[in-house]
Amino acid sequence: MPEGRQVQQMFSAIAGKYDVLNHVLSGGADFWWWWRMARRSGAAPGKRFLDVAAGTGDSSLALARRGAEVISTDFTHAMLRLGPAKFARKGFAGLIWASSDADAQQLPFRDASFDGITICYGIRNVEARPRAYAEFLRVLRPGGQLTILEFSTPVFPGLKAFYDWYSLRVLPRVGAWISGDASAYTYLPESIRTFPDQAALAKELETAGFREVQWTNLTGGIVALHTGTR
Ligand SMILES: C[S@@+](CC[C@H](N)C(=O)[O-])C[C@H]1O[C@@H](n2cnc3c(N)ncnc32)[C@H](O)[C@@H]1O
Repeated sequence: MPEGRQVQQMFSAIAGKYDVLNHVLSGGADFWWWWRMARRSGAAPGKRFLDVAAGTGDSSLALARRGAEVISTDFTHAMLRLGPAKFARKGFAGLIWASSDADAQQLPFRDASFDGITICYGIRNVEARPRAYAEFLRVLRPGGQLTILEFSTPVFPGLKAFYDWYSLRVLPRVGAWISGDASAYTYLPESIRTFPDQAALAKELETAGFREVQWTNLTGGIVALHTGTR
């Protein structure tokens, strides 16, 4: 696991190409995965959501589309600063959307101030996950829900073999070619391989103190959606 500063440098270097690479490397499935995440999160008018590790704002946008008030936070300013223009381009300029540079392990928000927290493709990069979970529990209202969208472990052997080939052979080459940065897209499959699988992540959340922990596999477990309640 690289240190936080290295993660920030890595995302700062690819920020301008991050969106296009997401869409190309996932074959467009990223939109479907964000849509499923937002639906599962319970985002709705009148609900206040914190999107942690929001990056360039696509995960936040999926929440805003369901009518939630969204506060987006990320510790890489070069990523987060691209969000407001994207919101405006998509016609969401009128919605309340606020950004703030913050580490998931030390959130600058009051206790019990959010109905929901989401973190999409971010928790894998956090150095001390238990510290982030403690912060999520602190800023969630009682009964509020954490929703994690993250790469996971494919559940079908044939899919796993294909995915291994794709993520180890194709993805780093295409990523390096489009972004001009070889390290970020070599780090991505490595970090996915060392990240807990579906059951282990659920156990981590229960150990941290979340109740009613559940998960759903998307696209055969290439990604998974985990939820837990405060
Ligand atoms: C792969 S991007 C995901 C962005 C967005 N959520 C999405 O779905 O496209 C991961 C983001 O996590 C952020 N990140 C990594 N570690 C973090 C931490 N400890 N605190 C806050 N943000 C973090 C990075 O800066 C990066 O913008």
